[in-house]
Amino acid sequence: MKNLGILLSGRGSNFEAIADNVASGTLDAHIAVVISNRADAAGIESARRRGLNALVIPSKGKVREEHDREVVAALRERQVDLICLAGYMRLLSPWFVQQFPNRILNIHPALLPAFPGLEAQKQAFDYGVKVSGCTVHFVDENLDQGAILVQKVVPVLDTDDDHTLAARILEQEHIAYSEAIRMVLEEKYAISGRKVVKKQESSCST
Ligand code: GAR
Repeated sequence: MKNLGILLSGRGSNFEAIADNVASGTLDAHIAVVISNRADAAGIESARRRGLNALVIPSKGKVREEHDREVVAALRERQVDLICLAGYMRLLSPWFVQQFPNRILNIHPALLPAFPGLEAQKQAFDYGVKVSGCTVHFVDENLDQGAILVQKVVPVLDTDDDHTLAARILEQEHIAYSEAIRMVLEEKYAISGRKVVKKQESSCST
C-alpha cells in the first residue's frame, strides 16, 4: 500500500476528506504522516484525534530551505510515496520540489491558471466570473503552475457572496482531491508536456 504525507497549515477539511476516504476504503492508501508548520492548525488536532502520526514542524523565523529540509527528512523517515499539500500556506523551495518529482500534489480553490495565489475564491468573485471551481495539480517550482490532474467547475450564483461561493467550491475540493490521488497512486495517467492524460480502463475481459 502506498504512503501519503499530508502537509497543512489550518482547518484541515481537505485532509479530513482524504482521511475519511482512506478509512472507508474508497482510497487505497495509508496516511503515514500529517505535518503542520503551525502548532495551532485545527487540522493537526484532527489528525491526532484520528490516531494518525501528527507532527508540528514550525516554520516561523526559519529560512525556507532549512525548514523544508526538516519536513523532507520527516517524510523520508515515513517512506512517503506521495505528498499532498492540503491548505499548506507556505511556498516550497525548489530544492524540496526536486526531491519528489511528480510526487507532490496541491489543491487550489480556483480554475487555474485563473486566480493563483491567496484568496482565490474572493479574487474570482470580485472579478465577476460566472464559473469558478478547484484544481488539483502537480507541484513544480512555480506557484500554482504545475500540470493539472483534476478540475471541478462550480457556477457562481447571483445570490452568492465570496463565502457561499467558497463553501460550494470546498465541497468539490473534497471530491477532486481523492480522485487525483487515486489517479496518481494507480498510475492511471500519462504526462505529455503540460498535459496529464487519464489512461482508459482496459475493456479486455478474457
Ligand atoms: C482550501 O480551500 C484550499 O484549496 C486552499 O486553502 C483551503 C484549505 O482548507 N488552498 C490554497 O489556497 C492554496 N493556494 P482546508 O484547510 O479546510 O483544507
